[in-house]
Amino acid sequence: MVQKFRKKIIAGNWKMNKSVAEAEDLASGIRRALAEVADVDVVLCPPFTATKVVGDIIADTAIKLGAQNMHWEGYGAYTGEVCAAMLRDLYCHYVILGHSERRMYFHETDEVVNRKIKAALEGNLIPIVCVGETQEEREAEQTEEVVGRQLRNGLVDLSGDLKKLVIAYEPVWAIGTGLTASPQQAQDVHAFIRGVLQEVFDEDTAQSIRIQYGGSMKPANAVELLAQPDIDGGLIGGAALDARSFTEIVQAAQ
Ligand code: PGA
Repeated sequence: MVQKFRKKIIAGNWKMNKSVAEAEDLASGIRRALAEVADVDVVLCPPFTATKVVGDIIADTAIKLGAQNMHWEGYGAYTGEVCAAMLRDLYCHYVILGHSERRMYFHETDEVVNRKIKAALEGNLIPIVCVGETQEEREAEQTEEVVGRQLRNGLVDLSGDLKKLVIAYEPVWAIGTGLTASPQQAQDVHAFIRGVLQEVFDEDTAQSIRIQYGGSMKPANAVELLAQPDIDGGLIGGAALDARSFTEIVQAAQ
């Protein structure tokens, strides 16, 4: 097996936070610190309401824009939703799909996530596909079963350049709790995920896909997590809401 070089990717998931003015401030601070960074892919995923303003601020830098969700249909009568073409129109490159908060609070199933991934790929967006087990599932030793199911069902019947897909392993018990998977716990699941990707796609694709860790990643634990062989970046929630801590995590990935 040839070990592939995978460029690290750090994405900030701002969730339902930041007014337009606050988003402008945060994006400007990140731009000042990171506009020149070329050896790590940096992605900002503001709420929809701040997508345009953040996009304008980072427009002429290497920092890329992402969204936190989208609908699988194109334009049409879907009150409250946005489609892939609308996100492309705002120069989004990435879209987070299947985040555990969407699965938990908005009842997104693996099938829904699969439809969204297909629509994103067709719409020329790079999906950041989130998977991860709950505390109870981990305690019941069902982590591989759950993550494996989410991947196999979510990634079924895809076509296009699948090497550009990004997977985010986010143990639900670590999101926003201050609890982080240990580097070894995370690495074990990442290696498992890469194995499933090889089964679902092929070895070359599995070796090319970047797998982020998410769940209370912060400057203090980023270096150790990012040093693991199968951890190719981070999906950052709380620590992405502050320009300094987000910047420090990107620096840890360099
Ligand atoms: P957290 O969130 O960094 O606040 O734990 C990560 C995420 O949910 O993407």
